[in-house]
Amino acid sequence: MRDIREVRAYIDAHRQRRQSNKVLHGHPSPVFWLDRDVPVPTVMRSHRPEGDGVRKRINLYVGTPYCLPTDPGRCGFCLFPTEVYRDRQQLDTYLGYLKREGEMFRPYLGGAELSSIYFGGGTSNLYKADQYARLMDIVRGVFDVPPDIEVTLEGIPQTFSHEKLTAMRDSGINRISMGAQQLDDELIKASGRKQTADQVFRTLDSCRRLGLPVSVDLIFGWPNQTINHMLRDLKALVDAGLTHLTHYELNVAGRTDFSRHRREELPSTRQNLEMYRIGRDYLVSEGFTQVTPYDFQRSGSLPSTYLYEELFRKPLREDDGHLVGYDAWGWGFAGISFFFGTPRNPGWAYMNQTRVDDYFRDLDAGRFPVMRGFRYSEIDLRLHLLFQELQSLEVDRRRHLALVGRDAVDEHRPVWDALVDLEWAAVDDDLITIEGDGAFYLPLIQNALAHDRLDAMRKTRRAIGATGVPASGALDAEQRQEVVPVPAARAS
Ligand SMILES: C[S@@+](CC[C@H](N)C(=O)[O-])C[C@H]1O[C@@H](n2cnc3c(N)ncnc32)[C@H](O)[C@@H]1O
Ligand code: SF4
Repeated sequence: MRDIREVRAYIDAHRQRRQSNKVLHGHPSPVFWLDRDVPVPTVMRSHRPEGDGVRKRINLYVGTPYCLPTDPGRCGFCLFPTEVYRDRQQLDTYLGYLKREGEMFRPYLGGAELSSIYFGGGTSNLYKADQYARLMDIVRGVFDVPPDIEVTLEGIPQTFSHEKLTAMRDSGINRISMGAQQLDDELIKASGRKQTADQVFRTLDSCRRLGLPVSVDLIFGWPNQTINHMLRDLKALVDAGLTHLTHYELNVAGRTDFSRHRREELPSTRQNLEMYRIGRDYLVSEGFTQVTPYDFQRSGSLPSTYLYEELFRKPLREDDGHLVGYDAWGWGFAGISFFFGTPRNPGWAYMNQTRVDDYFRDLDAGRFPVMRGFRYSEIDLRLHLLFQELQSLEVDRRRHLALVGRDAVDEHRPVWDALVDLEWAAVDDDLITIEGDGAFYLPLIQNALAHDRLDAMRKTRRAIGATGVPASGALDAEQRQEVVPVPAARAS
């Protein structure tokens, strides 16, 4: 966009619309990850750059495909690739394949330094108590796991028993992330999840007794949810002593039940903005700090880090005077990996198979279970790193310039001018800061920043589609979802 007026017109045309990709942090969306021949060994070698390249560490994500069946399917709102859970046998089989994938990658990643581990999904607390030690052994089969490393496991309230949480802790898992979404037993029914508020609080109590820090995911903008419902949930969790809360706006997209059948019951974008403001102000008044558009944290009795998420937002950092890069390796079903480099060699993002049969088939055939990927160009790497940093609501201009060779303000001046006018951002010589309603509108801000580049990419994609490489129309509905599994990465 050439000038501030164009940017304003773009924002005005889009700000009342539901924004998608609210849980997406990167650039470009997986819609553009169309390369089916990801050169995995070459990508892996970039993790160990020769000479005086950036030192690298691995931020590890391990996926689990399965979820309890619900009616409507996929909890009515979920955009992540998942498969329906039937029995323990599925989990045993899956763990066997996970181990095989690890063995394929051991020659490349064995001995790599791990920075943190996150077990996500799907539903990673469907495993039985005895399977958590096996899960950790599979990870130890590839990596030397340092004793004090942050290891998080994500799951749903009704399958966190005290016995399981004990087994998790004994196997080395030291942080829990619980997806509650709603605490109102009537509202949660819209998702078909057989979950009660009581189970949420019992899990919190078990975690406290076991010394496990815990964070909870809630969603606002839910069908028939009012501001009172939202405040009641936030207050109940604050009163229970919670120190980290993720408060996502409902992302409505694709062929989910909420998108197809519950639109009438959804609060409008205007009402969601109101909910966002009231929720944020309440949490801040209770001593929380806003660390991303949707993450709020405060200190509590249990010391805890949120390293996995932080390294996703700032994957290049100074450590002891050295520049250290944190690649993300997504291991297992639908895992998403980012192996990025420098402007001279910008790196790759890729995703593993999102159907469990395809994942198994590739491994049976001795192939890396990679579905498709994206080779960054310089401009895409710049945008990607800028998007990641914007998640923390602040961009250090000098650091960004040192990393990518261009100043983020100079490169996107009309966008920043428009955002400063709207009081969604502030810019000075050192920092770009997202403020006011800017955090709520961050997906729109990102779309404005990437507008011209995405236009150019769409044109190329159409041209490529005509020559036989699948264009997005050839992708199935799931693949078209903009989902990245980071809790957060989650790819959404
Ligand atoms: C992929 S889920 C996995 C966790 C677990 N299976 C659960 O359902 O709680 C991770 C988190 O993503 C968030 N999420 C999933 N779909 C979403 C959507 N459509 N809009 C907003 N948040 C979503 C939820 O808050 C959820 O806790
Ligand atoms: S919200 Fe969680 S439990 Fe529901 S389908 Fe998605 S990943 Fe599975």
